[in-house]
Amino acid sequence: MVTCSAPGKLILFGEHAVVFGEPALSIAVDLRVSTRVEGSDAFAVNGQSLDRRKYRYVKNAIGEVWRGGPLEMRVDSSVPVAAGLGSSAAVTISTLGALLHMQGEFNPVAIAQSGFRVELKVQGNASPIDTTTSTHGGGILVERSPRSGLLWSLSRDEKKWFLHDCPLPDLSLVVGDTGVKAETGPLVLGVKKLAAKSETARDQIKEIGRITLKGKAALQDGDISLAGELMNENHKLLNSLGVGHPALDKLISACEGLSYGAKLTGAGGGGSMVALTDEPEELAGRIREAGGEPFIVRYSPEGVRLEV
Ligand code: MEV
Repeated sequence: MVTCSAPGKLILFGEHAVVFGEPALSIAVDLRVSTRVEGSDAFAVNGQSLDRRKYRYVKNAIGEVWRGGPLEMRVDSSVPVAAGLGSSAAVTISTLGALLHMQGEFNPVAIAQSGFRVELKVQGNASPIDTTTSTHGGGILVERSPRSGLLWSLSRDEKKWFLHDCPLPDLSLVVGDTGVKAETGPLVLGVKKLAAKSETARDQIKEIGRITLKGKAALQDGDISLAGELMNENHKLLNSLGVGHPALDKLISACEGLSYGAKLTGAGGGGSMVALTDEPEELAGRIREAGGEPFIVRYSPEGVRLEV
């Protein structure tokens, strides 16, 4: 029997734009998914059929790497589902970690590469940011070309993403889950269609890439006010790309006066927002009053790991 766990993630800058090859910055957070795997007579996840839609990431992870017989699996998660916090990536990576370990092939590059392929299969369009963040942990910067701190690069068609380790200072962040569930695949497809027909949208995607690099520099310089302003700008651009939601804007407005800045995080269309603050408890109360579910999250340096 093997148990492996992997963290959820929070995109600070650059979601959606990263699918087009623009820079993006994310961190792993202290919410995790664990997958326990053991040999069995028939495939099952949490006592249910592997064919259930909610287990499609697990099923595709098995299809991607597993060469053995039937397995009984148990998946436990503290990452809210379809809320922009990388629950699918964490399920995928913890499952792949367990399976690859059972085959004597546990290594982060193999896990990240397989994880990206699984997300692509399930979602149709994806970047490797979620799966790399869940695999490696800490801060991850995606760029168009290699720099110091390069972990690995992944490519698809003519696109190539260079994934870098990007240590960040400890940030005080509050996530607000709107409770509006939204799937990543259709949202990414919507932005793709918009970009295909609108030059304005293509410019906005490039602008998000520029904001990401400025945001990363501001965070590393400790200029939290500037980082917050850039988050606000990033959010406006995401709204223009059609991935906002009134429930997100309501939670973001509720943070005014208590946060340096806030934006949606992840695919949007509902899901979650994130605010940068130094009054996390008070801000969490505001989010709850406005109808959201708050999570005070912390940066987690740890990625995928085997549990004893
Ligand atoms: C979802 O967490 C992030 C998106 O940029 C999709 C992706 O990068 O695969 C919306």
